[in-house]
Amino acid sequence: MSKEHAVVVGGLGVIGRKLVDYLGRETDWRITALSRRAPDFASRAEFIAVDLLDRARAEATLAPLGDVTHVFYCAFQGRPSWAEHNQPNLAMLMNTVEPIAKASPRLQHVNLVQGTKYYGCHLGPFKTPAKESDPPHMLPNFYYDQEMWLRRFQHGKPWSWSALRPHAVCGFALGNPMNLTLVIAVYAAISRELGLPLRFPGKPGAFTALYQVIDAELLAKAMLWAATAKEARNEAFNVMNGDYFRWCHLWPKFAKFFGMTPGGVQTIPLAEFMADKGPLWAAMQAKYALKPYRYEDLAAWPFGDYVFGCDWDIMSDTQKIRRHGFADCVDSEAMFLRLFGEFAAAGAIPRFD
Ligand SMILES: NC(=O)c1ccc[n+]([C@@H]2O[C@H](COP(=O)([O-])OP(=O)(O)OC[C@H]3O[C@@H](n4cnc5c(N)ncnc54)[C@H](OP(=O)(O)O)[C@@H]3O)[C@@H](O)[C@H]2O)c1
Repeated sequence: MSKEHAVVVGGLGVIGRKLVDYLGRETDWRITALSRRAPDFASRAEFIAVDLLDRARAEATLAPLGDVTHVFYCAFQGRPSWAEHNQPNLAMLMNTVEPIAKASPRLQHVNLVQGTKYYGCHLGPFKTPAKESDPPHMLPNFYYDQEMWLRRFQHGKPWSWSALRPHAVCGFALGNPMNLTLVIAVYAAISRELGLPLRFPGKPGAFTALYQVIDAELLAKAMLWAATAKEARNEAFNVMNGDYFRWCHLWPKFAKFFGMTPGGVQTIPLAEFMADKGPLWAAMQAKYALKPYRYEDLAAWPFGDYVFGCDWDIMSDTQKIRRHGFADCVDSEAMFLRLFGEFAAAGAIPRFD
């Protein structure tokens, strides 16, 4: 029998991009990645451009893939309101999984990426640590619609599903709405260029609240585990780096990395105050011989405002995934500094050493 065939749905996102890289390094699987854009990097994965909101196009594209064994669903469509997220995100999941399940008798598993917003962490203080068994918050939440549909659709079929619930995935991606590490890195580089200390731009309470993140590489590893371990079949798991931190303790370390004086808290709406820094960034790109990434593709400032505006604890319980067999962990402080170094080495942000 031929080898496994993974389809990474949303292969250019902060999650999908790292998963494509991880599967390419760690497995000999055939890898197909789906997104509307073409990749900006070399990969042994076959990228197929398709708009998954278009059912007919999705069916025509996916029907020839008759030997898919694993689906990793990490596509996402952002919308202005929570209610508006449901329709497009459920449609994309259905438009992918139904045609693949029909065309691929070898299908073994569908892994769905959700997040801590499953517990309402975006709404305000919530029960922490959040457990997978906690009751849902007041609808709407597109994760519920996706999970309910997937559970029902899988029922009685020979393949299984799993869901992972990470928070603030840290890695590299361009033009995506949720990438915390690049927000911090670009904000720090611009603050340094302007001769400012590295101030925390969020709310005072967010500076001291507990927070959690996950390295995109660790999440990719967890996704492969969830898609292949029998203990993970038809289960949902929180997954994080495994530690918790407060920004007030990390901020001075970040300042040191960027060769800056640590500043205190000065709350600014990043979406407003960073909007006019495109010309400055272009000048920095020339000055430091950076890659010509578009400023608006590098940092999603509204996401920074959201993360640094959470002045309540963000904390998930990760016992379940460990008890089921995935116990890998990452030191978050070391991860941030490593990623900043990687972004600088890749020419995305200046090197200040
Ligand atoms: N990022 C985080 O920190 C984080 C944290 C917790 C949970 N999550 C969850 O993880 C999931 C993935 O998030 P992400 O941050 O990785 O998303 P992302 O970076 O925005 O990536 C989304 C991917 O979906 C593709 N896509 C969007 N619309 C498409 C369409 N119509 N047809 C085909 N492909 C489409 C995008 O490529 P094209 O634009 O080229 O089509 C991209 O590859 C979401 O459910 C999100 O809520 C994310």
